[in-house]
Amino acid sequence: MSKAVRYRRFGGPDVLELQEIPEPHAAPDEVRVRVTAAGLNPMDWQITTQPAMAARFGITLPAGFGSDFAGVVDEVGAEATGFATGDRVYGAAIGRSVADFVLVKTPAATLWPTPEGIGDEVAGVLPVSGLTASAALATIGLRTGDTVLIGGAAGGVGIFAVQLAKLAGARVLGTSSEGTFGFLRGLGAEPVAYGPGLADRVRALAPEGITAAADLFGREVAETALKLGVAPERISVVADGPAPPPGVRKAGALDADPGAMERIADAIHSGEITVPIAATFPVEQIREAVTTQAQRHVHGKIVIAL
Ligand SMILES: NC(=O)c1ccc[n+]([C@@H]2O[C@H](COP(=O)([O-])OP(=O)(O)OC[C@H]3O[C@@H](n4cnc5c(N)ncnc54)[C@H](OP(=O)(O)O)[C@@H]3O)[C@@H](O)[C@H]2O)c1
Repeated sequence: MSKAVRYRRFGGPDVLELQEIPEPHAAPDEVRVRVTAAGLNPMDWQITTQPAMAARFGITLPAGFGSDFAGVVDEVGAEATGFATGDRVYGAAIGRSVADFVLVKTPAATLWPTPEGIGDEVAGVLPVSGLTASAALATIGLRTGDTVLIGGAAGGVGIFAVQLAKLAGARVLGTSSEGTFGFLRGLGAEPVAYGPGLADRVRALAPEGITAAADLFGREVAETALKLGVAPERISVVADGPAPPPGVRKAGALDADPGAMERIADAIHSGEITVPIAATFPVEQIREAVTTQAQRHVHGKIVIAL
């Protein structure tokens, strides 16, 4: 038997159950990963609470939980390609990552070798947030010399977006609450408080203007950037919600460029990007972990240890 977080009805954290299930085994074209760490994303609990979102991902009840994971390949099907037993890997498997074992069909588009020197706790939070941050910046053509305003800059996606934008040579302004300013400065961003009056505060910080924006929380930063004269095609949003203003780009993890994940892992390996882990919860505390993240004031990533 093995453990997996699963749910039988849609709802909040209380629907999540740590179940004993028969141990899954790799089919001929699959590898099996013994998961040790799984990063949480808002989409994980949005799927459990929103049947329409679950349907978009082809998830039906009863269902598994979680998307990101890291661990070790421990079974390789006879026809599987690209990975061998004992390989350290990380990847994304929507709706089934918080489990002792994840099966991945090969050739695999969302399974990567974990570079030496990067622990599973870090590798296991990279795919959804890292790829989304990369796509949010790529779609607005972020470049050296830009002054970019990033909304929700201290969250799971924000930590990657801020550092990727700095690496691209941009000046980075990031929104957060005032208590988070020190954390954002540590990532290389100039903090600015979200909420009413944001446009005035941005003008005061950057009187020469901003040239691009990535809204990682809602629509406030996208609307503020438009008000400040940024061209709509230089503004992206990633969160579900009302249709973005005309011309503003919607981006998500699936829009990331090929090679984006490897570039982020390389930058972590070389010390150019750090990955703050806000908290690690044992899998038995999955409901507490989800409750914490759903409050939307996490700085960095939350990890589930298996
Ligand atoms: N389309 C995709 O593929 C995709 C992929 C990943 C994520 N997403 C979406 O992207 C969004 C961000 O995800 P995430 O993982 O970064 O979320 P997260 O980690 O939960 O974000 C938490 C951060 O949001 C900040 N925050 C709270 N209220 C805010 C407000 N009113 N304005 C601006 N920032 C605020 C908090 O800062 P303070 O603590 O300082 O308040 C905190 O640092 C979510 O809506 C998620 O669903 C989409």
